Amino acid sequence: MTKVMVTGCNGQLGRALKKLYDADPEYSYIGTDVGELDITDLTAVRDYVSGLMPDVIINCAAATNVDGCEKDTDLAYRINAIGPRNLAIAAKSCGAELVHISTDYVFSGETAEAPRNEFDTVGPKSAYGRTKLAGEEFVRAFADKYYIIRTAWLYGEGKNFVKTMLAIAENHDRVSVVDDQLGNPTSAMELARAIYKLVPTGAYGLYHGTCEGICSWADFAEEIFSLAGKNVSVERISSEEYKKRFPESASRPAYSALDNMMFRLGTDIRFAGWKDALREYLVGLVG
Ligand SMILES: NC(=O)c1ccc[n+]([C@@H]2O[C@H](COP(=O)([O-])OP(=O)(O)OC[C@H]3O[C@@H](n4cnc5c(N)ncnc54)[C@H](OP(=O)(O)O)[C@@H]3O)[C@@H](O)[C@H]2O)c1
Repeated sequence: MTKVMVTGCNGQLGRALKKLYDADPEYSYIGTDVGELDITDLTAVRDYVSGLMPDVIINCAAATNVDGCEKDTDLAYRINAIGPRNLAIAAKSCGAELVHISTDYVFSGETAEAPRNEFDTVGPKSAYGRTKLAGEEFVRAFADKYYIIRTAWLYGEGKNFVKTMLAIAENHDRVSVVDDQLGNPTSAMELARAIYKLVPTGAYGLYHGTCEGICSWADFAEEIFSLAGKNVSVERISSEEYKKRFPESASRPAYSALDNMMFRLGTDIRFAGWKDALREYLVGLVG
């Protein structure tokens, strides 16, 4: 039986992974969140991991509030950089494989020639992106057997853009959404399926893992309303206009679409199109 330890298990990705691993008798799933194990505490991480001796550690714990990371950079570095460092050290000492999740925000997104692959140059513009990049670097430096998977625009069980749009639809017939930031909406379940299939391969390294297809936040919002049967019109606004309305918000890449090149070239694992994955998610959510 393969022992899989998941940190940040109460988050969107953690919950999706639990569904998959709990349904497979070949695996024993052990979920931890900050209450059981604070990944920023090296001693606690070492003790927990050496007591459990997992075969695989999947790090879903993160500070994911992009604007919040801007306001408390120290906390963001603790969780997004020191946390994965601690897990990498502990994973190496017990021979476990480490799966670490990162983000499209490691790219600057200033130019929009083509989706970014794993060999493209990074250059984060936000504290969130910088701290997540530092986490990747620590994993590379301290873990032996690791998968780093950069994903984007994630939605699952938890707070996310889809749920925000559905909540707005309850009492508004119009919403303003940014139209000049492009990316890949990705369902947590699709990402969890890819992780579940990737881990047994032993094909370690860096991966981009997002649902297929590119859209803007405004396109995403329109598709949510259309699939959910909500009559809400989307006013398309620029990032500049959004920043005027919310001056404290962090800068986000204009173009952060990812190319799942390493999945495509090195595995037979594929992601669903973003509209199909959204449809599956909404069926589970609103029926
Ligand atoms: N959400 C996105 O759009 C997105 C996009 C690209 C990449 N990603 C990456 O994908 C991964 C999974 O994201 P997600 O959306 O599932 O995240 P999430 O829903 O925000 O879940 C993260 C979990 O980690 C927990 N956590 C925070 N600090 C911790 C600590 N010190 N020790 C242990 N647990 C801690 C959180 O608890 P609290 O809620 O109590 O803080 C939460 O339960 C993350 O690495 C994220 O950076 C996410």
